Parts: sequence; C-alpha cells; structure tokens
Amino acid sequence: MADEKFKITIDGIPVEVAPGTTILNAARQIGGDIVPPAMCYYSTLEGSGGKCRTCLVKVSKGSEKDPRPMPKLVASCRTTVMDGMEVQNITSPDVLDARKGVVEMLLINHPLDCPVCDQAGECKLQDLSYEHGLAETRYAFKRRTFERIDIGDKIQLHMNRCILCYRCVFVADQLTEKREHGIIHRGDHAEISTFIENALDSDFIGNVIDVCPVGALTDKTFRFKSRVWFSKPVDAHRDCPTCSGKVTLWYKGEEVLRVTGRKDEYNEVKEFICDTCRFEKKKTADWVLEEPTPVSKQSVIDANHYGIFNPPPVIKENTRLQEANEEQLARTERLK
Ligand code: SF4
Ligand code: FES
Repeated sequence: MADEKFKITIDGIPVEVAPGTTILNAARQIGGDIVPPAMCYYSTLEGSGGKCRTCLVKVSKGSEKDPRPMPKLVASCRTTVMDGMEVQNITSPDVLDARKGVVEMLLINHPLDCPVCDQAGECKLQDLSYEHGLAETRYAFKRRTFERIDIGDKIQLHMNRCILCYRCVFVADQLTEKREHGIIHRGDHAEISTFIENALDSDFIGNVIDVCPVGALTDKTFRFKSRVWFSKPVDAHRDCPTCSGKVTLWYKGEEVLRVTGRKDEYNEVKEFICDTCRFEKKKTADWVLEEPTPVSKQSVIDANHYGIFNPPPVIKENTRLQEANEEQLARTERLK
C-alpha cells in the first residue's frame, strides 16, 4: 500500500497526497493563495504546530466514508487528510473571520514597534496583520512587558514581541546538545526562559533567530544596522566542517551586514547553519558567491511590490464566494 493516495480538494482544487499528510502540507503541494498561513508549524522541527491557530480551516466533508463535516474549524498543520475530504480555506467566510480573530488575539500583547524592529519587512505577524488584521485594537488593558534579555553575546530576546510559537524551544531541544531554554508559567504569564538566564552556547543556537516568526529573537550583530529592504540578499557557500555552509549573505553596499540560513517560500530555513558561519564569517572573502537570492514578490525586499491575490477558479464561478472574498478581490483590483 506504499503508493496509496488520498484524493482531497482544498478550495475546490483537487490534489492527491499520501495518507498521513496534513491538510497544510497537502495545500502546500498545490501552492499559492490557498495555503493557510502558519506561525508555529515548521516542517523540520518535530512536534511543531498546533499552538497559534492561524492555520485554521473548515472541513466541509470529512471523508468519502463519512461525509459529515467536522463540527469546528481545525488546525490544518495538525489534522491529517482522509480520502474524499473537502477542505475550505480562503473560500470559507468562517475561516476568514476566525483568522481575523486569531490575528487580533496574537496582537493583544504584541507591541506595534515595527518602525524600530529589526524583523520589520520579513515578519510573518506583520504580513498576517496586513492581510487579516483590524485597523484598530479593541483591547483596553495594559499589555505584558518584559525586560530585554541577552542570550549569550550574539542573541537578544525581546519577550514583549514573542507569540509563544515554541519554535525556538524546539530548535534548542532538537539542534543543540544541552537545552537550557523553554517556556515557563502558563496562560498570559507564559514566557521564554533560559533557566536563570544561562547563556545558550552551542554551535547551532543562532538558528533560533531564523525560526522566530516575529522580532522576539534578534541577531545582536545586526541589530539596528539597516532595514532589511535596504539590504541585498545573495546566496553563498563555504566549506564548513560543522554545517552545510549554504547561507544567504545580506549586503549593504560592499559590507555583509548579516548571515542567515536560506529560506524557502514558506519562510522555513532549508538547511540550518552553524554559529561560526552566522556570526563570524562576515567578509566576502570568506564565501563563494552564487547568485542573488530569489525574493518573493510579496516581500518588501522585492521593491515594495505586494503580491496580488490570485482567486482560484472556484471563486470566479461562485457569487457567494466572491462576496466572502470581497475585501481581497478589491485589494487585487487596487494593486493591478
Ligand atoms: S521567541 Fe520567537 S521563536 Fe521563540 S516562542 Fe517566541 S515567537 Fe516563537
Ligand atoms: S501553524 Fe497550525 S496552529 Fe500554528
């Protein structure tokens, strides 16, 4: 049964995937606008997902054998497909509404300090708020605030911005040898802790910077040096004894401002890099340059051109779905 495939549809688009595939990964096989956003799932980190709820979708038909819809929206990063399943993402007004609520929730404690945050321009929460956020907050209480903490001499934790996605905890747990870092307390008291603020020194701990979807963990060697859209990313490699040595160099003029792992279209690092490559090799002479890094049209790094919503055929043919996606369709018209 190794070749068995389940046939499902997502927003009316059919796809065949192996049993055990999650709805999110099935959607990624189709690609484009129907892929749910994911703030906590990270395909290479075991156990990730299920924390942020940004990837909620509607299962309007459970399977061929049991066509009943699922009673509630489900987290697509944690729900596996069944044969004959029908899923709605951007074609479901319920999903879009719930996503707005999730974004509002994530922004309750998140400071609006994008103008001074190093992550601005490549922050997934910023993108999400742009797509689904409200113009104003309804939250009237005091936000949580924390002192900034240095995690070693190269990484800074700015807990105010953390959305508790757990990705950095999984990196510390799965990529480094001694984990001294986790989440303590619960509910709105939960926070990232480095166990009595122990510095995390390990060859791979710098990857927490790359996996953090917001600006909570930043590279101290790059802090406040440049807005990302003023820098030019270039793929490069070196013969590194510790990691693959395949990185992206971020240039401003002739200076390498920072080194990061190479990321895919879902903002996930393709290969984790070591701290020597990340923090200590900042001269062009250290690297063999390859080519300019391909940058998504949706990124501000790509000359401020936001991507255009490409309505799947199912929306074009259905007036009810057109009404449900009115906002996105109107934005597409404005950007044309
Ligand atoms: S610090 Fe960043 S990666 Fe870690 S839990 Fe918070 S948001 Fe996620
Ligand atoms: S990406 Fe699915 S719950 Fe966070």
